Amino acid sequence: MTSMPDVPALAADRAPPLTDLPEWAHFAAAARACTLQANGVPDLIEAPGVTVDFSGQRHSDALGQAGRALLEARGFDVQRARLLAGEAVNITEARPAWHTALRAPDAPPEVLAERARMDAWVRSADAERRWSNLVHIGIGGSDWGVRLAVSAFGYTGLWRQVRFVANIDGHAIEGGLAGLDPRDTLIVLASKSFTTAETLQNGERAREWLAAAGVDPRANFAAITAYPERAVAWGVPEGNIFRLWDWVGGRFSLWSAVSLTTALAVSTDVLAGMRAGAAAMDQHFAEAPVGANAPVRMALAGVVNRSVLGHGSLNIAPYDSRLAQLVPYIQQLDMESLGKSVDLDGRPVGVPTGPAVWGMPGTDAQHTFFQWLHQGSDGAPVDFILCRTADHHWPAHHRALLANCLAQREALMRGKTFEQARAECLREGLDPVRADWLARHRMHPGGRSNHLIVLPRLSPYTLGALLALYEHRVFVQGVIWGIDPFDQWGVEYGKILARGIVEALSPETPPGPDGGAARDRGAGHDASTRHWIEQLKG
Ligand code: F6P
Repeated sequence: MTSMPDVPALAADRAPPLTDLPEWAHFAAAARACTLQANGVPDLIEAPGVTVDFSGQRHSDALGQAGRALLEARGFDVQRARLLAGEAVNITEARPAWHTALRAPDAPPEVLAERARMDAWVRSADAERRWSNLVHIGIGGSDWGVRLAVSAFGYTGLWRQVRFVANIDGHAIEGGLAGLDPRDTLIVLASKSFTTAETLQNGERAREWLAAAGVDPRANFAAITAYPERAVAWGVPEGNIFRLWDWVGGRFSLWSAVSLTTALAVSTDVLAGMRAGAAAMDQHFAEAPVGANAPVRMALAGVVNRSVLGHGSLNIAPYDSRLAQLVPYIQQLDMESLGKSVDLDGRPVGVPTGPAVWGMPGTDAQHTFFQWLHQGSDGAPVDFILCRTADHHWPAHHRALLANCLAQREALMRGKTFEQARAECLREGLDPVRADWLARHRMHPGGRSNHLIVLPRLSPYTLGALLALYEHRVFVQGVIWGIDPFDQWGVEYGKILARGIVEALSPETPPGPDGGAARDRGAGHDASTRHWIEQLKG
């Protein structure tokens, strides 16, 4: 059971608000004073599994120094040590966020034991060629990481067909089950809390589907949860339940048995490789000095882009179609973690915090929204991600992919002046009046911030390292802004309102005197919501 946070201890610990710190003022001033360093020596950090090129970010010696001072003022060393030691860094929920323990070479014994049990279970299912179909039912952190790993390493096809069902929309579960043979289908219910409405309701439909085909649902269900007793009560046999722990955040849980489907789809070796890459990144994060620490540098750049330059979004551009699912994965990791506006003491942070994260693999993205990145009024920083070596046999495709990535990045950084655009138009034979006019449409502002992250090739190790890089980047931004990156109170409010509205939409619920439904009157809906409850009821 989660205990309540120790409020008096917190109050005694009060840190000054970020914007009261002279270190913040220096950092912001130093960031405003510098431009992109694109013409210097490439600014690279070789971290485990990835090379990060920071040449597309604002940088100067003064900014580097100010960043170090800011981190010191925010107690970064102590906070990092507390995270990695499994202390209760999730302050508002009074619990650790100890995902690093799940992949540490010296993981706690209960972690190793559960992993061994899951691996043995997968080995026996594989040996018996059990289940040609897997339906993974889970949402958010119980879904995205599994989708990502399965699509990254199973892109050429799998001997087990894998489907994912997350949404409460009945079309999702209908499509997820359609055409499968119930006798040869394993339903995997992944839910840390085992209370998530979407997952349990979709699980019910799957159970009915199995029962309707005369299959014992118990034999064809597995569950992963931090509350095994809830899964037992729901009807999953104990031997098919794997656990995680309350000290793992949902969006950090792919390192746990939540990845059972990944193991069944693309092997336990993939999970072992991902854990090894992540653990190597953890070590880099723990030991590398600030200036050579990839997640820390990315976090400082993120704070410059968001809180100083005011960029409201961050674009993720993986130039590898196997990484399409990386975008929603980072979207949840970043936005659920950093979408907060008050600090740990409950005061407004005082600067804009987490950006909206969005994206799509290149080159599709180039034909969808890159125009906006190049010449739109806002633009956004971009994280370009590519693999040096491809795993297919068409080098020309890979060269073209790499060229597109580098070219888009260069155009965003370099831009094109009016004079350059005009000269180009004149060279193409336009008369001077038309060249003046068209050049205004063809100039690019340039100076757009970006990271280039290069993986030697896509492997479990490099993907694990990449994900840990982002996890730690998010954590450091949380430390600088002084927020709790491990809670998600905002999501809860809508969930509670939805429960009342679900009842109100039921045809059995009589309408209340205010036009709302009797059972839901206490919710005090606005006129429009009441109108639509009445319209959509049934
Ligand atoms: O979206 C809110 C959230 O609580 C996420 O943090 C979590 O990953 C998801 O719901 C699913 O939760 P659970 O694993 O408990 O079903």
